[in-house]
Amino acid sequence: MNIKKWLEKNTYSLSGKTVAITGATGGLGRELSRYVVMLGANLITVDRNQARSAALEKELVAEFPDAKITRILADMENFGSVKSACEQMKDMSIDYLVLNAAAYSIPRKKCDTGYDNVFQINFVSPYYITRELMPILAARKGRVIAIGSIAHNYSATDTDDIDFSTRSRSNLVYGNSKRYLMFSLYELMKTEEKMLSVVHPGITFTNITAHYPPLIFAIIKHPMKIIFMRPKKAVLSILKGLFDHTDGYSWIGPKLFNIWGYPLKKMLKIAEKAEIDRIYQTAESIYSKLK
Ligand SMILES: NC(=O)c1ccc[n+]([C@@H]2O[C@H](COP(=O)([O-])OP(=O)(O)OC[C@H]3O[C@@H](n4cnc5c(N)ncnc54)[C@H](OP(=O)(O)O)[C@@H]3O)[C@@H](O)[C@H]2O)c1
Repeated sequence: MNIKKWLEKNTYSLSGKTVAITGATGGLGRELSRYVVMLGANLITVDRNQARSAALEKELVAEFPDAKITRILADMENFGSVKSACEQMKDMSIDYLVLNAAAYSIPRKKCDTGYDNVFQINFVSPYYITRELMPILAARKGRVIAIGSIAHNYSATDTDDIDFSTRSRSNLVYGNSKRYLMFSLYELMKTEEKMLSVVHPGITFTNITAHYPPLIFAIIKHPMKIIFMRPKKAVLSILKGLFDHTDGYSWIGPKLFNIWGYPLKKMLKIAEKAEIDRIYQTAESIYSKLK
């Protein structure tokens, strides 16, 4: 099957629907934005860089002259910026909220909320946005599409170091934030019918995967592009989340070893119930302090 055939079989027109995508200017965000506009939805890009957002809008309008695009500025490291973006989005009749923005190996710092920036970008801010927009999405029978990662499985969470700020290994710090995002949302949406889709793209070459030391990166860059799926194909697992929900602890990702192939819904190897409960309680306690 090629991508065109997959799209014909698995998607339908999104005309009249509004899709908000955080990190729309990233490797997968751009591809997702393109598919969403191609399918006729109104697109809201929620990005930290106005110039990149404007360039993306220009590109999409050049290809799809009828595209309806609204740009919102939000730096996920900055809570004030996230709060203001939420206030704007509350007036926008959003049907699908795609929590796509994320960071992996970046210079670490403590954010305005007191949390480590990787934890804030990948979990605190998206959880806050979800909580704020949930009533609107529920009223519209909409959905949250959360991008998980295989890395959620690299380590259990730690009550003494919630945001892994004392850890230095990027894969663990990133994985911990994704573990918080995925399991808190499973719990939050447990009784909300069809309102959550946890998805993941496997491994694909984007800025987030370009985090190796320069020499190693120079060696692996081209093989990576050949070995792994291109973002255009990997993003289909994220797109699928707009057309299908995940219940229980399932997620949608590439069929083969969670890395290659077209999207398939599978059960996760789940965490212990006590840990999941704790993650959810922590998420709710962070949210109530921030709101
Ligand atoms: N690529 C993979 O192999 C892979 C695997 C598993 C999961 N994922 C997930 O897929 C999603 C998309 O990642 P990607 O591969 O497309 O990576 P990417 O190209 O690095 O895109 C990440 C996006 O997040 C945005 N972002 C980063 N820090 C931000 C901040 N402080 N405030 C607002 N936005 C911020 C980036 O903005 P700028 O454009 O301004 O830099 C970019 O748009 C992420 O959730 C990632 O965890 C990717």
